[in-house]
This record gives sequence, C-alpha cells and structure tokens, in this order.
Amino acid sequence: MQPVRTDPGAFRQAMTRFAAAVNVVTTDGASGRRGVTVTSACSVSDDPATLLVCLNLSSAENAWFEENGAFAVNVLSAGDEALARAFAGEDKLTQAERFARGEWSTGATGAPLLSSALVSFDCRLIDARVIATHKVLIGEVADLRIGEAGAGLIYLGRSFRSLDAGQ
Ligand SMILES: Cc1cc2nc3c(=O)[nH]c(=O)nc-3n(C[C@H](O)[C@H](O)[C@H](O)COP(=O)(O)O)c2cc1C
Repeated sequence: MQPVRTDPGAFRQAMTRFAAAVNVVTTDGASGRRGVTVTSACSVSDDPATLLVCLNLSSAENAWFEENGAFAVNVLSAGDEALARAFAGEDKLTQAERFARGEWSTGATGAPLLSSALVSFDCRLIDARVIATHKVLIGEVADLRIGEAGAGLIYLGRSFRSLDAGQ
C-alpha cells in the first residue's frame, strides 16, 4: 500500500492549532556557543529524565549542538518575547548580540542557562537522528534549574501569547 503523503503547507497550517511552549535551546563547547528559539522541545521519559528537541538541518551551525554533546532547554517566561524573537533570527543579530539580551549562567554541561527562564533543563546528548529536514537530539538531564514561577510564553496561531500558571 502506498503511504499517504500529507501536503507540507496543510501540515504547517494544521500546526498553527498546536499550542506550544517557547524555549531557547543553547549549547557551548568546542564548536562554539549558540542559541535557537524552538517549540519542538518535549519530554521523553522521567527515569532517566530525558528530553528531545528537533533542529532544522538548513542552519549549518545547528550541528554545534551535536558536536558539543550537550544542550540546555530554557523554557521562556511571558516577559521574554523579545528574547524569543532575537533567537529566532529577527533583526539578524549575531549570536553574541542575542546572548547580550539576556542574563546567563553556565550549567554542568557548559550550556548557557537563562536566569529569567521558568525552568532550564541542562542535558547531555545521548542520541541524535535525522528525520527528513531535522535532527532530533535526545538529551539526558544532567542539571535542573527551577526559576521564578510565572506566566509562560506560548506560540499559537502564529502569535506569541502569555499563559498564566494560575495558583
Ligand atoms: C515560535 C518559533 C518556533 C521555532 N521552533 C523551531 C524548532 O523547533 N526547530 C528549529 O530548528 N527552528 C525553530 N524555529 C526557527 C529558529 O528559531 C530560526 O530558524 C533560527 O533561530 C534562525 O537562526 P539564524 O538566524 O541563526 O539562522 C522556530 C522559530 C519560532 C519563531
């Protein structure tokens, strides 16, 4: 039986209904420091604690995440929309200029952790696999940084939105 191939435009349109947390995934090491805004991060398992993130192969520098062998998922608070835009390539800032817009510390793996993040998951890479246009990176959590509680930054309907954490 022939597999049904969904039209990519229809799929992208469908994904506008998929509300997702906005994160900046960061890395540092021998290949260099880099951060990218992503909605593709999600948890895989809790024992051991593992996360995955999908990075587009069209950016050659995205290879640095795998080469450095570590990445951190910084979950953005509602106040960090400007940072999300900067790390998504708006205004074509250099990586140094993007990092200068936030406050960072260094995690156990060497990855930059955003001080204003709701939470940062500092991960060692345990697996990586190409799926079509993206590299799926799977990391085991080496360090957890819980930030101040507050509203989260969500992407829905091609817009940034704020979601209150409630009580
Ligand atoms: C809301 C949002 C979510 C994104 N999610 C992803 C993602 O999951 N994976 C990815 O590779 N790029 C994602 N991007 C695109 C990257 O942020 C963007 O291509 C990259 O930062 C451009 O970097 P450059 O200017 O250094 O090439 C997303 C962009 C936005 C605005």
